[in-house]
Amino acid sequence: MKKTLKITLFLAGWMVIATMCSFPWTKKVDPANENTWTWNAEFNDKIAAEYKEIGRTVLKTSFLTLTGEVTKAMKEGGVPHAVSYCNLKAYPLVDSLSEHFNVSIKRVAEKYRNPNNAMRLFEQELFQAYNTKNENKESIMDQVVLSSDNYLEYYAPIILTQPCLACHGNIGTDIREEDYQLIKSLYPEDLATGFTPGDLRGMWRIRFMPKEPQ
Ligand code: HEC
Repeated sequence: MKKTLKITLFLAGWMVIATMCSFPWTKKVDPANENTWTWNAEFNDKIAAEYKEIGRTVLKTSFLTLTGEVTKAMKEGGVPHAVSYCNLKAYPLVDSLSEHFNVSIKRVAEKYRNPNNAMRLFEQELFQAYNTKNENKESIMDQVVLSSDNYLEYYAPIILTQPCLACHGNIGTDIREEDYQLIKSLYPEDLATGFTPGDLRGMWRIRFMPKEPQ
């Protein structure tokens, strides 16, 4: 009996340690700066594959929600009605997804409409690599990377398609002048026009948020 208990405790102990080790974050490097984290594990293919699955699950729901709602809004009332559906913040479902998977979900772009979606340097490099491949007609895949500031992040390319032109194509031809006036009044810093189908428009970024150590 005693022996069984010992073995059980021993195994349970190992399970706790194993779970802790599989969780790749440790403490903040600098307690005053909440953006600095150490990385507890070797970043390897296994971790990348595991998190890619989670990234894809989160992306699928976010993508379907956003495109579904924007398409519906376009049918109902064209661009003026649909613009307010283009921000991920408009969707409580995206909030609950973020909470459930402990992630932050974002779209980033070089030529952004909303300056909050501008790319940091690390992302510009990923974007350039995607863009070169896309221009050479090579296939581009989603990926999990360890960012320069130690975040585990999932990226997926966003390719522009025909239905996007009404808001991201050429002003005056694809985008109606009056619609663009509205867009510009809402987004004075807008850079996100002049695209054609097949262009790399931006990237989805799903960041796996580190948890405080218990
Ligand atoms: C009804 C107009 C409209 C349509 C249609 C539309 N967008 Fe947008 N898009 C916007 C607006 C407005 C924003 C800014 C949202 C925000 O505040 O984050 C935006 C933002 C984005 C962003 C985030 C980066 C940035 O520029 O701020 C991406 C990426 C994007 N759109 C891609 C697409 C793609 C791909 C399609 C087609 C599948 C599409 N959009 C269709 C209006 C539109």
